[in-house]
Amino acid sequence: MRKLLVTGGAGFIGSNFIRYMLSRHSDIRITNLDKLTYAGNPDNLRDIEQDDRYRFVKGDICDADTVDPLVRDADVVLNFAAESHVDRSIGKPDDFIRTDVFGTFVLLEAARKHGVERFVQISTDEVYGSIESGLFKETDPLMPSSPYSASKAGADRLAFSYYVTYKLPVVIPRSSNNYGPYQFPEKLISLFTTNALDDKPLPIYGTGENVRDWLFVTDNCEGVEAVMERGTDGEVYNLGAGNEKNNLEITRTILRELGKPESLMTFVRDRQGHDLRYALDTTKIRSLGWEPRHSFEDGMKETVSWYRDNRRWWEKLKSGEYLEYYKSHYKREL
Ligand code: NAD
Ligand code: DAU
Repeated sequence: MRKLLVTGGAGFIGSNFIRYMLSRHSDIRITNLDKLTYAGNPDNLRDIEQDDRYRFVKGDICDADTVDPLVRDADVVLNFAAESHVDRSIGKPDDFIRTDVFGTFVLLEAARKHGVERFVQISTDEVYGSIESGLFKETDPLMPSSPYSASKAGADRLAFSYYVTYKLPVVIPRSSNNYGPYQFPEKLISLFTTNALDDKPLPIYGTGENVRDWLFVTDNCEGVEAVMERGTDGEVYNLGAGNEKNNLEITRTILRELGKPESLMTFVRDRQGHDLRYALDTTKIRSLGWEPRHSFEDGMKETVSWYRDNRRWWEKLKSGEYLEYYKSHYKREL
């Protein structure tokens, strides 16, 4: 029986990962350590909270007293916990440095002390920065350009240093933009889909020509599992689907799926330091036998339908503190 410690498992990708792993493995125990920030949502795992193989612990990865016994009890640590939204990192970077860098350090220290079979540090393609043409390889230099991506680059390299220095069996997946069910409605696809469902404006930054490579969330979960099981210690693995789309294409796809008018498209002030394009060479992860299962078209249909059918899930989130943030973030334009 394998014991996994998943941090940040009440967020978007972490919750999808836990559900994915429980659906595929019977001989597994998963502990989810999550602070339940604004982005952590117990509703994301309502369907499995009674499962005997699953345990939730509310706590902070920066707190060594909380982390220590949980790591001692785990075979594998998967660190998904992070502050993850670029716009919030531009407004207030503090928590990004604390959680993404210091929190990773606390987990690594506990793993070094107790020993683990694997330490999976969830990183991101944003650590490379922007690329006008071509694809980033795992060996390319890191040039992060937002406080978020810089904090993730710090965590990524700190984890690597524990492999080099202490021989901790670290592996590092760097994935592209995920989309799918249970994404907090502040990211491009979840925000625009839920706004469109309410006939509200879709705030496109700048010209809308920025490009991202969109990966369906369960395909990422399968990739993370491949890296955890078959990756080589100390190695980085890019994870992307090759679905390069600019923000205008994404916006039009959502409006088309929902039968909503293009008049909802609203051009607003650009994000500061807005990266133009992310694109990954995924040869290395594909050599582990992984490939994405969802086409972009199928993934978008599934995603848009999920938000249409789960209005109660996101309506609850789009209130209170969220509205305050949203109003102050977009106040000049909307
Ligand atoms: P998310 O914001 O939806 O979830 C983050 C989770 O971490 C939340 O449940 C939150 O409560 C928890 N958390 C935050 N600070 C914590 C702390 N100090 N202690 C314990 N828990 C804490 O994020 P996500 O989109 O699911 O991203 C998960 C991971 O994947 C992050 O590390 C992110 O950098 C990385 N990533 C995300 C994407 C993407 O497209 N969303 C792509 C590549 C990599
Ligand atoms: O690339 C991986 C990264 O993808 C992850 O590491 C991050 O955690 C995740 O948040 C995501 O970052 P992005 O900045 O790429 O995602 P976001 O959904 O915030 O923005 C995607 C694109 O859409 C980007 O070009 C900015 C644009 N955008 C976003 C929002 C929220 C808009 O035009 N309007 C918006 O309101």
